[in-house]
Amino acid sequence: MNTVADIKISRVTKSKLSELNLHNIPFGKFFTDHMLEVDYENGAWGTVQIKPYQDLALAPSLAALHYGQAIFEGIKAYKNEEGEGAIFRPFENFKRFNFSATRMQMPEVPEEIFIDGMKELLKLDQAWIPTFAQHSLYIRPFMFSTDEMIGVRPSEKYKFMIILSPTGPYYSKPMRIYVEEKYIRAAPGGTGAAKTAGNYGASMYPTAIAKEKGYDQVLWMDGLEHKYVQECGTMNVFFIIDGKAVTPSLEAGTILAGVTRDTVIDIFREEGIEVEERPLNIDEVISSYKSGTLTEVFGTGTAATISMIKELRYKDFVMEFDVEKTSKTKQVATTLDNIRYGKTADTHNWMVKI
Ligand code: COI
Repeated sequence: MNTVADIKISRVTKSKLSELNLHNIPFGKFFTDHMLEVDYENGAWGTVQIKPYQDLALAPSLAALHYGQAIFEGIKAYKNEEGEGAIFRPFENFKRFNFSATRMQMPEVPEEIFIDGMKELLKLDQAWIPTFAQHSLYIRPFMFSTDEMIGVRPSEKYKFMIILSPTGPYYSKPMRIYVEEKYIRAAPGGTGAAKTAGNYGASMYPTAIAKEKGYDQVLWMDGLEHKYVQECGTMNVFFIIDGKAVTPSLEAGTILAGVTRDTVIDIFREEGIEVEERPLNIDEVISSYKSGTLTEVFGTGTAATISMIKELRYKDFVMEFDVEKTSKTKQVATTLDNIRYGKTADTHNWMVKI
């Protein structure tokens, strides 16, 4: 079993940080000075290395490139007003990562590597955590198969890595969403609850079609009846109906169990807002909109945090929401920000010090 002491660290001689302006920095384009890398071979994880961010040399026959045994997570680190860095709920992502690993027939990553390794990496690159509002350091742990073999079978070798990317707001404007009826994101028995690369690859074509029509993202429907709301783009989705927060339930295994989703549910309940996790039919969305009881829709995700939705289009029916009046969305977003940026007591111990 690895311990923190097993990590081999080699530092950059000169940081790239001074070359960058972190204000409004685009999501996922720039990376910090260091990365973490460790290989799995012969049934065991090797020595964890933290080293300068650099390219990988990969064989064209690399299994992950052909059959997609590849999983990832998204986590964020924030700085409080005293300049101390902390990671938001990394243990939840750690659990989900290993759930994804099992679903994709990949080895689990031990906590000593995932969590302790992440903290060590962040200690080196703390200066990269932006301090502006709505900014953070996005943490991307990922694992892929590395057998050099194009036979279809689980790989025997894997690589686990963590890279870090400073980021500003993900969706800067309220979104227009197209309800997708033909293409699906996941089906019962599939990989919808796992954070595996193929789920995102398969979403790109339908999303591109929605974008051609002038929409920012799609709202996915279930794979059987194309009637039940699932996720919105790369986010979970909440509807405020009759003053209650309604979000699709997870039991069918077709929806990613979002950490921000779970957080928002806790915050709403603590603030006295009833939450219903249940199947939500698009017909109910429409009838609630028509009767005026559907007042707000928003997405939740690590990258996107809380994203307001100003328009939903289902077939030819357009539902518009006045984002100036989205009081519950703003309320939960503010509570969440206050916890993440250390402006309010973290009663849940969600923030893990670096
Ligand atoms: C996240 O919210 O972390 C995601 O995984 C969404 C996306 C950037 C892939």
